[in-house]
Amino acid sequence: MDLSRRTDNVPTLEVKHLSRFFGGVAAVNNVSIAFTPQRITALIGPNGAGKTTLFNLIGGYIAPTSGAILLGTGDLTTRKPWEIARLGIGRLFQDVRVFGKLTTLENIVVAFPNQVGEMFWQPIFQRAQMMKMERPNIERAQALLEFVTLADKANTVAENLSFGQQKLLAIARLLAMDAKILLLDEPASGVHPAVLDSVMDLMSRLVDQGKTIIFIEHNISVVLELAHWVYVLDDSEVVAFGLPDEVIHDRVTREAYLGV
Ligand SMILES: Nc1ncnc2c1ncn2[C@@H]1O[C@H](COP(=O)(O)OP(=O)(O)OP(=O)(O)O)[C@@H](O)[C@H]1O
Ligand SMILES: [Mg+2]
Repeated sequence: MDLSRRTDNVPTLEVKHLSRFFGGVAAVNNVSIAFTPQRITALIGPNGAGKTTLFNLIGGYIAPTSGAILLGTGDLTTRKPWEIARLGIGRLFQDVRVFGKLTTLENIVVAFPNQVGEMFWQPIFQRAQMMKMERPNIERAQALLEFVTLADKANTVAENLSFGQQKLLAIARLLAMDAKILLLDEPASGVHPAVLDSVMDLMSRLVDQGKTIIFIEHNISVVLELAHWVYVLDDSEVVAFGLPDEVIHDRVTREAYLGV
């Protein structure tokens, strides 16, 4: 499945001197990062370092205290979450968030922009009717499920998927929404080793197809295998960045993060 053209002119997502304080305490403090397009950037660091808060800021869920968020020449700093999603920035939440009562396939169909979304929430909504009206979308949804290796789970109710399979589904929903930049909050954590291979392989294939990935991760071997660039956050600040090998073996990182 071809998700995007490699030659697309892809804008750079950038945060500049970004800070967010909660009651006088910094959660993110003066963070500046330009995320390389069509590459995988890992954000690592101890619990409470500010990684998820950085994603909340980029996604427009909370406002920065100061600093800017840019996409190419566009300023995202005061944009709302739905505007940011429409601009192609998708988010996998730490706690996943798929529609548990819908099937895997339905979860994808309702993610397509301007589709059955509105109809779906009407009281007279009928599953059979939706499936008939949405034939082309169902075919696209099936292709996406195949791409994320969930084709055989199309008719499984999402709450019956394993946690890792729900993460694959949540990523497929981002693709259905045409996300070009994927913010993945701990895609590997809590995932069974067999599914972990699928998640990691999916991330590689997404970058091959032109997506930009920024992911938060505690599992160092996953970072070493997947990331092109690594940023280490500790106590709200970037304390190290560079190539995975360099950063992971760096003294500051080992002290801040690995405790050795
Ligand atoms: N809405 C909020 N109100 C108050 N404090 C917050 C809020 N959100 C985050 N914080 C604080 O900001 C700091 C950074 O939290 P954050 O969730 O970003 O850490 P994290 O790096 O994602 O950690 P983990 O690896 O455990 O997920 C923590 O001290 C946290 O308590
Ligand atoms: Mg977090």
